[in-house]
Amino acid sequence: MATARYSDGMGPNSPLATVAMERFAVSAHNPEEIAIVDIAGGDMVRAVSHVHLEAFSGYLNARLGRGYASALIDWFVREKEKAIAIAAIDRNDRVIGYAMGAPVSLTRRLRQDMFWVTARSIILRPLVLFDRRLWKVGKRRISDFVAPRDVHPSSDLPEPTMSLFGIGVALSHRKIGVGRQLMQAFEDKARLLEMRSLLLWVHEDNIATRRFYEQCGWRPCPNAPGQLSRKYVRLIDRQDMRT
Ligand SMILES: CC(C)(COP(=O)(O)OP(=O)(O)OC[C@H]1O[C@@H](n2cnc3c(N)ncnc32)[C@H](O)[C@@H]1OP(=O)(O)O)[C@@H](O)C(=O)NCCC(=O)NCCS
Repeated sequence: MATARYSDGMGPNSPLATVAMERFAVSAHNPEEIAIVDIAGGDMVRAVSHVHLEAFSGYLNARLGRGYASALIDWFVREKEKAIAIAAIDRNDRVIGYAMGAPVSLTRRLRQDMFWVTARSIILRPLVLFDRRLWKVGKRRISDFVAPRDVHPSSDLPEPTMSLFGIGVALSHRKIGVGRQLMQAFEDKARLLEMRSLLLWVHEDNIATRRFYEQCGWRPCPNAPGQLSRKYVRLIDRQDMRT
């Protein structure tokens, strides 16, 4: 079994480097070997942004372009002491999937840090101004700025809470278990970071992805009428660490 390289200064002695660094068969039904590694900077961020743009094609954040996607992924990589930025790689070290997340308490900082990148991406792609979703998000952000709301929508969850910001698998490698392995590694990392719960939001009508989350053990929360996104949660079982 080949051992995947450690990324971005993460040596074998780092507590965060203990998560599934070796290649393993992706599932009991598929012998394809993958490894889950930390996303390093540079080329790897670009490779992950490629998968991200493919996985989220048509979504607003993908419409903001490659520069925005790379800056977003880079943010999670730079925050690696507190955040999670992992990739699945195949036997040729090609990125075939990724997952990234950060504690809910960092949400406001993420938005602030991404403000100018977002503005620049919009200026470079003015057509995005015709996307009604942009105005909806913008309105929410402005009202948050004028009258800050609690950015801890997880107050009903045991804290601290890790928010899963994005997970995606290349079209060429879907439905063979890569997403499930990424999710397992994400949870293991959140556990190492001493999180007690997980949270994510998914579009209400993204039925396939909702099914995926449910198969991975996440629980949907009741929605207010008209709400476009559904909140999913998962408690972290401290006994459940993969060895
Ligand atoms: C969601 C996604 C990450 C799943 O990755 P994947 O590698 O194909 O998923 P897996 O093969 O590991 O599947 C794990 C489980 O979820 C289920 N699942 C995965 N995709 C599914 C789909 N389209 N419809 C129904 N169930 C699905 C599988 O059946 C599997 O369950 P099983 O093991 O009991 O059979 C991938 O489809 C994707 O990148 N989607 C686009 C990006 C996206 O929507 N991200 C989330 C936005 S919030």
